[in-house]
Amino acid sequence: MQYNPVEMIGQSIRSIPDWPKQGVTFRDITPVLQNPRTFRMLIDIFVARYMQQQLDLVAGVDARGFIIGSVIAYELNLGFIPIRKKGKLPFETVGEEYHLEYGQASVEIHVDAVKEGQRVLLIDDLIATGGTLLAANRLLNRLGANVVEAASIIDLPDLGGSTLIKETGLPVFSLYSF
Ligand code: PRP
Ligand code: ADE
Repeated sequence: MQYNPVEMIGQSIRSIPDWPKQGVTFRDITPVLQNPRTFRMLIDIFVARYMQQQLDLVAGVDARGFIIGSVIAYELNLGFIPIRKKGKLPFETVGEEYHLEYGQASVEIHVDAVKEGQRVLLIDDLIATGGTLLAANRLLNRLGANVVEAASIIDLPDLGGSTLIKETGLPVFSLYSF
């Protein structure tokens, strides 16, 4: 029997209605990570996509973007930059505010996280409104990074985030859409 890795990953994503609030269907990647086969397939797809891209760094967004971002960086022999929720980074930071599907937040990055012109892959688990990745992209741009692509496992196209990100001129890659 043939298998399609993207379909296997997509079918492993668990959908939880009305969480964390009424009307939101939460797309939970923990079953994908829990199974070593789907976890490896997931990482291998991203590694294959970016191995010829002459990247310098992978930036992952707090918290779920850290899980895959750091493994992809390791496999590509690149450094990893955490983009964290406000108040978590100990050194000098710059920050950006944004809106979520279910709230408001802000993200920060260390001022010395990127050198001018470095080629950075920006990664998170999911794009909903796009607010998080747009804020993360603004941070990286403020530090002079060349953000090559915004990547996610999941896109929720009905929420318009991936379209908004593309409209800024930043390419977007997502593995699976709901
Ligand atoms: C979720 C998700 C993305 C973001 C997507 O993170 O992991 O980072 O929301 O939404 P957006 O496209 O509307 O910005 P959340 O802030 O819930 O944090 P977590 O990773 O710590 O769970
Ligand atoms: N982040 C924002 N919207 C989300 C959703 N529907 N599922 C999981 N994470 C999210």
